[in-house]
Amino acid sequence: LMAEKGGYKHFMLKEIFEQPRAISDTIAGRLLEEEGDVYLESLSLPDGELKKVERICIIACGTSWHAGLVGKFLLEEHCRIPVEVDIASEFRYRNPVVNDRTLIILISQSGETADTLAAMREGKARGGKNVAICNVVDSSIAREADGVVYTHAGPEIGVASTKAFVTQLVALYLFTIKLGRTIGTIDKEKGQAMIASLVKVPALLEKTLELNHQVESVAKRYMNARDFLYLGRGINYPIALEGALKLKEISYIHAEGYPAGEMKHGPIALIDENMPVVILVPQNANYEKVASNMEEVIARGGRVIAVCSAGDREIAGKAEVTLEIPQDNDDLAPILLSVPLQLLAYHVAVLKGTDVDQPRNLAKSVTVE
Ligand code: G6P
Repeated sequence: LMAEKGGYKHFMLKEIFEQPRAISDTIAGRLLEEEGDVYLESLSLPDGELKKVERICIIACGTSWHAGLVGKFLLEEHCRIPVEVDIASEFRYRNPVVNDRTLIILISQSGETADTLAAMREGKARGGKNVAICNVVDSSIAREADGVVYTHAGPEIGVASTKAFVTQLVALYLFTIKLGRTIGTIDKEKGQAMIASLVKVPALLEKTLELNHQVESVAKRYMNARDFLYLGRGINYPIALEGALKLKEISYIHAEGYPAGEMKHGPIALIDENMPVVILVPQNANYEKVASNMEEVIARGGRVIAVCSAGDREIAGKAEVTLEIPQDNDDLAPILLSVPLQLLAYHVAVLKGTDVDQPRNLAKSVTVE
C-alpha cells in the first residue's frame, strides 16, 4: 500500500504533491501558442453554438462547485457573458430559466454525482446545450454531455479533492480562452498572454509546495482551535470556501469561508483570541481592501494566518503567521493559494489522528440523491 502511495503517508499528500504534474497533463497538447488559442479535443460544440450563448449556468456539488465559482470570474471577465453558479441539488428542483441560448457547464470529478447528472438532464430538457468538465473518462456525465473538457488529473483516491480541483480551475481557464477567442472578446495577443501565464503554473506550484514544512508547524500551533474562519475576496473568495471545506472534511474542526468584505455583517461577532483567521491577501486589485479587513480582525484580537505574495513586508509585520506564495497572474492565483490551505487541512488532520483519506460519513462520489 505504501508503494501505491508513492512513499507518501496518505493518498491525499501524494495527490497534493502531484499537482504540478497533473496541471501539466491538463495543458498538454492543448495550447496553440502561436494563435493565442486552445484546442479542446472533445469539446465538440460547433463555434456557431458557442457564438449563440447569452448566458452561462455552471452547476456542480462540493469542491467542484467551488471551482465553478472561480469559473464565473474568469468567464465574466474575459467573455463578458453573465454567469450563474448553482449547486446541482438546488438547480434541479428550482424551475430554472434555461433556453437554447443558455450554456450549461457541469463540473464533476467523478462524472457520477447523482444531483449533477440530474441537473444536466433537466437543463438539456429545457433546451440548453452543455459542456462537462470531468476527470473520469467515459463517466455517466461525460458520456451524456454535448461536449467534454477532461481534466486529466489522473485517478484521485483521497476523498478530499485536491488535484482534481486545481485541474478543474485549469480546464475552466482553457475553456474561457476557447470561448473568448470564438466570440471575439479575447484577441490573439491577449490569448497569447493568457497562455504564457498558464505555462508558468506548474513551476510556480512546485515552489509553493516548499511551504509544506512551514505549514506543518502552523498546524501544530493552531490545531486545538474549535473554529476557523477563512476570508478572501473576488476570484479568491471561492478558495476561502474551499479551504474551510477541506479543514471541515478531514479534521472535523468547524470552519467557515466568507467574502472578506462581508465579515462585518456577521462572523466578526465570533472573533476573539481563540479564533484563527486564514486570510488570502495576495497582491492584486483587491489587496488594499483585504489588508484592511485583516486589520479589522487583528483589532479584535483574532489570530491571523495570512497567505500573501512572497516578500510582502507589510503583511508579515502584522499577521501572526504568513505563508508566502510566488507572485502570479491574478486569474491563476487561486491555484497557488489552494496549496497551503490543502496542506493546513492535511497536517491538522494528521495531528488529530483522523482517517485522512477516508473521513467519516463522506463518500468520494455520491451516486444517490
Ligand atoms: C463528494 C466528494 C467531494 C466532491 C463532491 C462532488 O461530496 O466527497 O470531494 O467535491 O462529491 O463530486 P464530483 O465527483 O461531482 O466532483
